[in-house]
Amino acid sequence: MTCLRLKLCASLLLLAACAPMPASHPVSPAVAEWPALRSPTAPDAALERRIAVIVAGMTLEQKIGQMTQPDVRYITPDEVRQYYIGSVLNGGGAWPSMNKHATVADWSALADSFARAALSTDMPTQIPLLWGTDAVHGHNNVAGATIFPHNIGLGAAHDPELIERIGRATAQQVRATGITWAFAPTLAVGQNRRWGRTYESWSSDPALVARYATAMVKGLQGEISGDGDVLATAKHYLGDGGTFNGVDQGENRDTREQLIAQEAAGYYAALDAGVQTVMVSYSSWNDVSTGRDYGKMHGNRELITDVLKNRLGFDGLVVSDWNGIEQVPGCAKDRCAQAVNAGIDIIMVPEDWRAFIANTATDVREGRIAESRIDDAVTRILRVKMRSGLFDHPASASSFTGRAAALDAGALAREAVRKSVVLLKNDNQALPLARGRRILVVGASADSLSNQTGGWSLTWQGTENSNADFATGSTLLGALRQALGEANVTYSADGSGVNVADFDTVVAVLGETPYAEFNGDVRFPTPVQHSTMYPADLAVLRAVSGKGVPVVSVLYSGRPAYANDLINLSDAFVAAFLPGTEGAGLADVLTGGRYDFSGRLSFVWPGSACSTGEAPGDIVQFARGYGLSYAAARPVGQLPLPATPAACEVSAP
Ligand code: BGC
Ligand code: BGC
Repeated sequence: MTCLRLKLCASLLLLAACAPMPASHPVSPAVAEWPALRSPTAPDAALERRIAVIVAGMTLEQKIGQMTQPDVRYITPDEVRQYYIGSVLNGGGAWPSMNKHATVADWSALADSFARAALSTDMPTQIPLLWGTDAVHGHNNVAGATIFPHNIGLGAAHDPELIERIGRATAQQVRATGITWAFAPTLAVGQNRRWGRTYESWSSDPALVARYATAMVKGLQGEISGDGDVLATAKHYLGDGGTFNGVDQGENRDTREQLIAQEAAGYYAALDAGVQTVMVSYSSWNDVSTGRDYGKMHGNRELITDVLKNRLGFDGLVVSDWNGIEQVPGCAKDRCAQAVNAGIDIIMVPEDWRAFIANTATDVREGRIAESRIDDAVTRILRVKMRSGLFDHPASASSFTGRAAALDAGALAREAVRKSVVLLKNDNQALPLARGRRILVVGASADSLSNQTGGWSLTWQGTENSNADFATGSTLLGALRQALGEANVTYSADGSGVNVADFDTVVAVLGETPYAEFNGDVRFPTPVQHSTMYPADLAVLRAVSGKGVPVVSVLYSGRPAYANDLINLSDAFVAAFLPGTEGAGLADVLTGGRYDFSGRLSFVWPGSACSTGEAPGDIVQFARGYGLSYAAARPVGQLPLPATPAACEVSAP
C-alpha cells in the first residue's frame, strides 16, 4: 500500500504533497489505498475565522440557499435575493433573454444584476454570488467567442504550454461576460470510443491527462483572484471515461486499483495545481472484482468525502452535475439527503431549486442530514468565494468585463488547430496543396462551422447553428479560399455538377454532425464505422476518387473513427477532430510552406468497426503517438478492410 502510494506520488511528481494523514480522520483500509495528499493552499486561520462568524449568523434556509444552484433560465435576480441563492449556472444553450446573439454587454449586465441581487439580502453579511458556465473549448455559449479545438484535438497537440495559454484566454473570455467560474476541465480518461463524450477527453493515457490537467487548471485559475482569473472545475469525479461499453452516465467496473492509478490521475494533478471545485460524475462504480456495487457517484460518501476531501486533501467545493442527484436510488430532482451526506456542497438543481431548499431544510430538521454537514458545505463555498476575491471586489471590476475584444482569441486558436490535427496518410505527396492550382472542395462539412465545432457550441448539442450564428472564425472552405485565392477553389457539397478531371486536387471534407453527452453514444452492439453512420460522406468520396486526381480527405470527428474504407479512397487523410471556429489553422498545414503537421494521436485509431479502444482483441490501425509530417513522410498504402458485422460481439470497458 505504502509502496503503491509512493510510486503514484513519485510518478506524478507530487512527492512533496504526500504527507501523513492528520490524526482527525480515521482511515479505513480501502481509503488508505489512495495517496495521502495535502492542499497546496496553506490553511488561513484569519479567513477561516471570518467564515465561521458568517456561517454562525446564518439561518438554515440561508445556508441551504448557498448550496443551491439554479439555471439562469429558471430564476430571476430577485429570487436569488429572496432565497439567498449562492450560485447560478447557464446550462448549454442558455443565453441572456434566450437571445443566441446576446452581446458581452448583455451577458455582463445580466451577471451584474444577479450579483447585485445576491448582495442585497437581509443577511447580516452579504455573500457574493458565483455563476458557473461550461467553457469547455473557449467560452462556447457566447456568440462571437473564439471556439478552440475540443480536448481530443488538444490532446493530440501534446503541448501543455499551449493548453495553459488556452486556459488563460478562455478565462478572459469568461470574465468579459461577468462570469467567474468555468465548468472545465474534463479529466476523463476516455477508454471506449462509443462514449459520446470521448471528445471532451484529452487522451486514453492517464499520464497525458494528468499533464494537461495541471496546465489547464493553471491557465484558467491563474492566481485564483486575479483580474483575468476564473475558478476551474475538475470533472466528472470519478470514472466517467471508463464506463462499461462507453455508455454515458453508465457503470464503471474498474477495480479500486484502476480507479487510483488511471481514472484519478488527472485529479491528483488538478488538486496539486489548486483547482477549487470538483464536479461529481453521473456514472456509477461497480467493483466487479470484489462483487461490491457502490452505485451512483452522487451518493458515494467514500469517494467524495473520505477519499477526495479527507485523503486527497481537497479543501474546495464539490458541485453535483445537472439534476445528478435524482439518479441516486430513493432520491428525486428536488431531494437527496444521501447526496448531501455523501459530501456534495453545491447541488445543481436547474429548475426545482425552490422545492429542493424546502425539502433539504426538512431533511435537516428531521435529522436525515446533520446541520454540521450543511455548515461544512457552506464553509467550503465561502472559502472558495473568499479565495477568488469576490468578497473584496465584484466580478464586474475585472478589466475584461464587457470587453468584446476579449472574446477574440483567433490567433491562438488557429495555432491550436495547426498543432492538433493529425496527418494519418500522405501518399504520392498529395499534400501540401500547391498554390496556383485548381482545387475542388467537396463534402458537406467543408462549409459547416457546426460540424467543425461539434457539441457544446452555442447550444448544448451544437445543433441548430448556422455559420452566421458564430459571428467569428471561418470554415475550412472559407480558409482555403482565403489562402489559395477565390478563383482557385471550387465547391460542390456532394460532388455533383463538376468534372473532377478539371482539377489538380480534390479536398473532401467529411464529418460527424454535432452531439453532446448521451446523444453521441454509439450503443453496443452497433458497429462504430463512419461510412455507415454518414453514408453521404462515403458517396461523395466515391464520386471523386479513382479519377486520376489526388484526393485529400479531412475528417471532423469527436472520436477516433474507423475509416479504413474512406482512407483507402483517399491519397491523403487528416484526422482533424473538432477543431473549432478557426478553419484557417487547417488551411495553414494543408498548404504547407511555413507549417508542418505536428499532431500525434492521443488515442489509438481503430482498425475495425468493433474495435473501440485498447481492450484485448481490439485492432489498432494507428497507435497512440502516430502522426506523419512533411518532414517524416512514409507511405501508408491500402489498409485492410475486415468485414463489418451487423452487430459487434464483444463488449468492452
Ligand atoms: C454535464 C456537465 C455540465 C452540466 C452543466 C451536465 O449535463 O454533464 O458536464 O457541466 O451539464 O451544463
Ligand atoms: C442544459 C445542459 C445540460 C442538459 C442536461 C440542457 O438543457 O442546457 O447544460 O447539460 O440539459 O440534460
